[in-house]
Amino acid sequence: MEMFDLKGKTAVVTGAARGIGKATADLLGSRGATIARLDVDGEAGESILPCDVTDEHAVDKVFAQLGKIDILVNNAGIAVRKNAFEITREEWDRVIAVNQTGLFLCSRAAARSMKQTGGGAIVNLASIMGFSGGLFPNPAYQASKGAVVNLTRALALEFAEHNIRVNAVAPTFVRTDLTTPIFSNPEVLKKVMQHTPLGVLPEVEDIAAAILFLASPAARCITGVTLPVDSGYLAR
Ligand SMILES: NC(=O)c1ccc[n+]([C@@H]2O[C@H](COP(=O)([O-])OP(=O)(O)OC[C@H]3O[C@@H](n4cnc5c(N)ncnc54)[C@H](O)[C@@H]3O)[C@@H](O)[C@H]2O)c1
Repeated sequence: MEMFDLKGKTAVVTGAARGIGKATADLLGSRGATIARLDVDGEAGESILPCDVTDEHAVDKVFAQLGKIDILVNNAGIAVRKNAFEITREEWDRVIAVNQTGLFLCSRAAARSMKQTGGGAIVNLASIMGFSGGLFPNPAYQASKGAVVNLTRALALEFAEHNIRVNAVAPTFVRTDLTTPIFSNPEVLKKVMQHTPLGVLPEVEDIAAAILFLASPAARCITGVTLPVDSGYLAR
């Protein structure tokens, strides 16, 4: 279990007010890490540091204030589930801004600090939608998560000389505020389960466990990969 020990480490989790981000912050904290919980929703609780990941100046300021950073979990993400004909330019831009550009801005800010202090680990939230055209049209989200998969590889190579590992997890459908429209639609949920060979969907804690693995010393020789936590969705 020492391989999963995070005592003395500082971890930043974006989008930590709820869902997968909150579960991840709680789990990394339980392994001994000091956690900075960032979220655009600054009202979500006393432990939240307000920060919009798309605001470059705000991101740079927060990361500079945090000092030594060992782990970054790029979890903040949004979806606008509209097809190619319906999505507006503004909606498209916002999804790309949060899921792709925001993730890049936070990675760069963290890596600036990590390279001064001997290295670190970055874990990105991709999605099965980064590998798949999906079960219904969701093009902005799918484009942004495909970009996360390849940005994970690109940054892993660029940052390797600084001993900074960069990996991602790719969850299938997990019950959170983000997926309420999916879990509350019996027809869509039935389709999801038809694409779930294990017959059970992960909970937020299952995603957090994979993130802990990739962030921990247990994964010290793993970089540039995206680990599906998908109950078999992508195996078909
Ligand atoms: N839930 C799923 O089924 C699922 C599947 C695959 C991938 N993911 C990814 O996991 C991540 C977390 O998803 P979730 O389901 O927990 O979502 P969620 O909506 O429950 O939580 C997302 C959090 O991110 C915050 N956030 C949104 N925009 C932000 C911004 N600009 N700056 C800072 N914080 C911001 C929100 O305020 C919220 O607290 C996302 O990247 C999502 O795409 C989720």
